[in-house]
Amino acid sequence: MSSTLKAVRGTRDLLPPETALWNRIEATARAVFARYNFGEIRTPIFEDTGLFARGVGEETDIVSKEMYTWEDGERFDKDLLISKWNLANHERFGAAIGEFVHKTASTPDVMQYEGNDGNWELVVFGARPSAELLNILGSAVSADRALISKSGSAKQVTGRLVVPSPTPGALIETTNDGILIEPFFGNFNRSSQSLTLRPENTAGVVRAYIEHKLGETGQLQKLYYIGSQFRRERPQKGRYRQFSQIGAEVIGPPSAGSESPLRDAEVLEMLATLLDELGITGWTLEINSVGSSADRARYNEILRAALAPVASQMCGDCQRRAVTNPLRVLDCKVPEDQPIIDALPKIVDSLDEESKKHFAAVLAALDAAGVPYTRNHRLVRGLDYYTRTTFEFTHGGLGAQNALLGGGRYDGLSEAIGGPKAPGIGFAMGEDRLVLTLLAIESAQPEKMDAYIAPLGDAKDEAALTRINAAALALARELRRSGLSVELGDGSFRLKKSFETADKVARRIVILGEDELQSGILTVKDFASGTQTKVPRTELASFLSKTSC
Ligand code: HAM
Repeated sequence: MSSTLKAVRGTRDLLPPETALWNRIEATARAVFARYNFGEIRTPIFEDTGLFARGVGEETDIVSKEMYTWEDGERFDKDLLISKWNLANHERFGAAIGEFVHKTASTPDVMQYEGNDGNWELVVFGARPSAELLNILGSAVSADRALISKSGSAKQVTGRLVVPSPTPGALIETTNDGILIEPFFGNFNRSSQSLTLRPENTAGVVRAYIEHKLGETGQLQKLYYIGSQFRRERPQKGRYRQFSQIGAEVIGPPSAGSESPLRDAEVLEMLATLLDELGITGWTLEINSVGSSADRARYNEILRAALAPVASQMCGDCQRRAVTNPLRVLDCKVPEDQPIIDALPKIVDSLDEESKKHFAAVLAALDAAGVPYTRNHRLVRGLDYYTRTTFEFTHGGLGAQNALLGGGRYDGLSEAIGGPKAPGIGFAMGEDRLVLTLLAIESAQPEKMDAYIAPLGDAKDEAALTRINAAALALARELRRSGLSVELGDGSFRLKKSFETADKVARRIVILGEDELQSGILTVKDFASGTQTKVPRTELASFLSKTSC
C-alpha cells in the first residue's frame, strides 16, 4: 500500500474557520499601519544567502543552523552560446544573421541564416545533442526544402545543431539525415548562486531600501510586511518551520530623523495600540539597550572575563557560549544557571554616554505616552544587527515560546550589507503566535451567513428539481448582489436536512418551493427568535438587510 503524503514537519495547513481569524488579524494590522503612515513592502521569499550571512550574522543560530539553503546550480546560458557563435560565424553570413523562424511555444527556436552564397542554414542551439532537437531541426529543414523546390530555386538548405564543447577542436559530426552537429568550444554556463528561504525579513527590506535607493528621497521610509519566513527549528507549539510574520521597519538617512529615540517610542506605542485593537490583553513589553557595536564588543569581553571562573558550574551550552559568544549565555533558560547569570555584569553599565541618553529618551517618551514596560537587562536578542534599543512583547498564555514579537534598532545594518548609512528600527510579530493567543481568549467561530436558501423539490421529479434549483440560484444571485451573504442548499434535500444545515451556517432560512415560486411570497424563518415571516420576493433583499445584525 502506498503511504499517504502529509504536510512536511513544521509546516501546516490553515483551514476555515481559523483562517477568518488570520484575515482579521491582518486587516487590523493593515488598518493600524495605515494610521501611522506605513506602506506595504513585498520582498522575495528567497534571497542570496550572503544577505543573511552578512546581515543577520554568521555566528547566530538562525544563520549557522536554521536556514533552508541550496545551490541554484549552474545553468546553460543559450543566449551566450548564440551570441558567441554568431560572432565566430559572422564572415560566413554577412549581415543576414540569425532570423528566427519556425518559432512555436512547444519547440525551441530554430534560427535561419542566409550565407554569402545565398544558401540557407537552419540552426538550433542546445545544451547537448538530443533526439528531440534533431527531430525539430529535421522537420524544419524538410519543410524549407519543400518550399524551395516548389519555387524552383536552386538554394541549398542545411541543418545544424550547435552544442557547447568543453574542449577545443572537437569535430563536426553528420547524422544519417545529413544534419550537422557542431560542438562549439567555450563555457556557456551561468555560475551557481547560493540561495536561502528568508528566515526573517529585516535584511530583505534593507536590501530593497539600498537597491531602490530609497535613501535618496531624503524621507523616512515606514514599511510593513506580512508573509512567511522559514527556519529549521525543532517544531513545537508556537514554533514552526514555516511561520508568518507581520513586521514593520522605519529606516532612512540620519537627516530624516531615523536615529531619533522618538522613532523607537512611536514604534512601541504603535505595537501597544495594535495588540490592544487585536484584543490581546495581558502582554508585557520587555525592553533593553544593547548600545553601539563598540559597547557590545566591550561588554562581550567583560562578560567573557566574568564567565571564566563560573562557566564550569553551568550547562554545556553555556560552557561553550562562554567562549564562543558570551552574550548568548544571557538567553539560557536552564533553572540552575539563573542565579549565576543574574549576578553577571549588566550591559547597561557598558553603554557609552550617547547610548545611555538615547535609551533614557525612549523610556521617557514611553512614560509620557503611558505605555507600560519592564526593563530586562538580559534581552540581547538572537540577531547580530541590533544596536541600542531591543524589545520583546511576551504573553503568559504562550508557554515556552512566549515571545509574541521582537525587534529593535539596527543602525549599522545597511552599511554591513554595502549600503549607505541608514539607521532603522523595526519589529516582527509571530502571526501564528497571535492566533494561538487569540484562540485561547476567543474561539474562532465563523460569522453566520445572512440567509440559507432551501429549494424544496421533488427528488423523484428530475425536471421539477432542475427548475427549483435553477430558481434558487437566481434568487441567491439577486440577494448576493445586493450585498447579503447567502448559502445555497439543494432541492433534493428533505426539509429536515435543509433546516439542520441552515441552522449551522446561517441566521435565517428562506424556503423556496413550487408554491413560493408561483406566488412570489417566500417564508423566512429566523433561528434566534424562532419567528416565521412571509415576505414578497421583491422585498426579500431589503427585509434581510434590515434585520441583518
Ligand atoms: P525574531 O525575534 O527572530 O526577530 O522573530 C520575531 C517573532 O517571530 C518572534 O517573536 C516570534 O513571535 C516569531 N517567530 C520566530 N521564529 C518563529 C517560529 N519558528 N515559529 C513561529 N513564530 C516564530 C526577527 O525576525 C526580526 N527580523 C525582527 C525585527 C524587525 N527586528 C527589527 N526589525
